[in-house]
Amino acid sequence: MNKVLLVSDAAYFRVDYEINPYMHTEVQPDHTAAVVEHLNIVVAHRAAGRRIEYVASAPECPDMVFTANAAVVRGNRAVLGAPPPERKAELPYFQEWLIEHDYDVVEAPYPFSGQGDALACGDLLLTGYGQRTDRRMHSILARALDYEVVPLRTVSPRWYDLDLAVAVVEPGRTLAYCPEALDEQSRRRLRGLGMDLIEVAVEEAARFALNLISDGTTVTMTKGAPRLAAELRVRGLQVVELDTTELAKGGGGVRCTALTLDNPLPARP
Ligand code: ARG
Repeated sequence: MNKVLLVSDAAYFRVDYEINPYMHTEVQPDHTAAVVEHLNIVVAHRAAGRRIEYVASAPECPDMVFTANAAVVRGNRAVLGAPPPERKAELPYFQEWLIEHDYDVVEAPYPFSGQGDALACGDLLLTGYGQRTDRRMHSILARALDYEVVPLRTVSPRWYDLDLAVAVVEPGRTLAYCPEALDEQSRRRLRGLGMDLIEVAVEEAARFALNLISDGTTVTMTKGAPRLAAELRVRGLQVVELDTTELAKGGGGVRCTALTLDNPLPARP
């Protein structure tokens, strides 16, 4: 799972506005450190055997390094994100890349945070709402991508995207999540899936511990969440911990910087 990723670069990564509680315009990323940090993530993906596709960032798009919000992709179809106004300028670049690479691109009619609020888990799509994704997107995603949507509501702007609160470690088998980040009904829904659930404390989740990429063998995640890392290792996973302090100034971690291009199609004939 998740072996083909679309990444951009940190060439123009800045904090020009504050659209999540982690962003402060007076705390700017160090340019060189951010570029190195991002390259190290790419190097780690390649070392894990993942293929990297690349779209160049644009000077007027300071958040373009966070490609996860661009869309959610399954098979040859992509449902584009519909981000806050501050990030709208990114869309044409991603749209163009997807069209050039033969994806059938569907525009989102309502606010939608792309893969930030859409975690593929086999034939399920764990879909966030309550912050940047309008609930009306759920039926659109289900239809366009043939997923069974599992709606999960995050309870505060701290969890402005679901990929800060929940992580798919092994589809159908293991999820990790921060219980406090979800409302009661959503917690119940997650437990009802019958998978192994790793609980992550607010403290580690707020350091973007859950913003990880797992292919079921290697988990690429941020440093600074030793408890989650240990839980993953106990389950036999290879864990690669990376420094993400510069990306964190934009409110993101490892997973935010990659859009998955190879979510498997339905297993049924
Ligand atoms: N500064 C970006 C924003 O607020 C960070 C996006 C992180 N992406 C994610 N998938 N959580 O939109």
